Amino acid sequence: MDKFIIAKSKLFGAVEISGSKNAALPIMAATLLTEGRCVIKNVPCLRDITTMIKILEVLGKKITFNNNILVVESNKSKKYVAPYRLVKTMRASFCCLGPLLAKVKKAKVALPGGCVIGPRPVNLHIKGLTGLGANISVEKGYCQAEAKKLKGNNIYLGGPFGSSVLATANVMMAAVLAQGDTLIEHAACEPEISSLGQFLREMGADIEGFGTPLIKIKGKKSLNGCEFKVISDRIEAGTFIAVSLATGSDILIEQAVPGHLFSVFEVARKMGAKITVDNKNKQIKVKPPKKIKAVNITTLPYPGFPTDLQAQFMACLTKAKGISLINEKIYPDRFMHVAELNRMGALIQKTGPYAIIEGCKKLQGAEVQASDLRASAALVVAGLVAENSSKISRIYHIDRGYENIEDKLKKLGANIKRIK
Ligand code: EPU
Repeated sequence: MDKFIIAKSKLFGAVEISGSKNAALPIMAATLLTEGRCVIKNVPCLRDITTMIKILEVLGKKITFNNNILVVESNKSKKYVAPYRLVKTMRASFCCLGPLLAKVKKAKVALPGGCVIGPRPVNLHIKGLTGLGANISVEKGYCQAEAKKLKGNNIYLGGPFGSSVLATANVMMAAVLAQGDTLIEHAACEPEISSLGQFLREMGADIEGFGTPLIKIKGKKSLNGCEFKVISDRIEAGTFIAVSLATGSDILIEQAVPGHLFSVFEVARKMGAKITVDNKNKQIKVKPPKKIKAVNITTLPYPGFPTDLQAQFMACLTKAKGISLINEKIYPDRFMHVAELNRMGALIQKTGPYAIIEGCKKLQGAEVQASDLRASAALVVAGLVAENSSKISRIYHIDRGYENIEDKLKKLGANIKRIK
């Protein structure tokens, strides 16, 4: 298993953001809706993408993936089983359920189970697809779904923690081939959902309202292949904002969509950063303060502050003057990074869905272990500011979601090395 050795670094320069993993994954699942050829550009080369490629291949697709361009072709397969050995490594595989149901009329997708960021139920996915007329049962760890004919309906997708991104994706993908009209209420508004909506429209779907809580769909008989470019990864861009703040380095973030990051700018500015945005040239210039100010952060569904940046900003706040509070409202148990940051000298107390972060003078390098994708990014942020060097193990987590992370950091001047 690979490890990172990281030492305290001062960075400077520009970094280019890759395509969004969380936009690319449901779009890849949506190719199951057509026998046409789909050409998807700006797909990041990541472990989760490779897993989704394997799932689509098991389901009968022929795929090539070179230079961030993914070409998906079909052999008119009627395969409908997404096996546990693949699904267990990546929850997003569950969003094959909707398109398989719509196209093949049945689907058998392994239940993804829990994960270190807390319980991850699928009740909203099942509720939404059942509302479109599917018969769904859960047996022996698999979700089995069948529908001779999906029928449009009014589907309410609000849950105890707000909307659900992948449940919205699943229902959208099933409804575009259902008979009649569907109205999804309390839909997720994340840019990744808008990107999926745009892709479905390119495929010929009649869909509007994506990006708002009310999505309207008129079912079509069939969809065509298309060409599409995946949006830039807002979470990767936000991670580099955290890197800039923590290390006190001026960084220019390129190929970003500033419009997707207002809540993050708001927090960064409260922490004392100067953020300059150039929408036309897709650039974000981050000038950090000499000393970060303590802030309170609440994670919320989009356009609120993303849970996927909570860990990285917590790592920054260990350096702040004063006491900060983080309220995790999406995944109340997503705090695996707290213990590891404390091993590096941070003063963080977790209580329920809150973390209280007391700014400390210095973090100390240590041997730490990544527990999940965003927690591993937080340890990288901490490793870049800690005295002495740190060794981060289990970095396969970071490889799931950050394309060429150490090359990008090295280019900015970071002292980071991957060892086998
Ligand atoms: N929820 C339910 N019932 C459901 C589904 C979700 O109660 O049927 C709850 C969840 O437990 C959670 C909340 O709703 O409390 C939101 O979960 P959501 O369904 O939106 O999460 P997701 O769609 O499974 C995606 C991203 C996650 C990101 C979340 C929230 C992908 C592939 N994954 O997951 O990304 O944290 O939305 O924004 O898009 C990551 O990239 O590190 C990551 C975990």
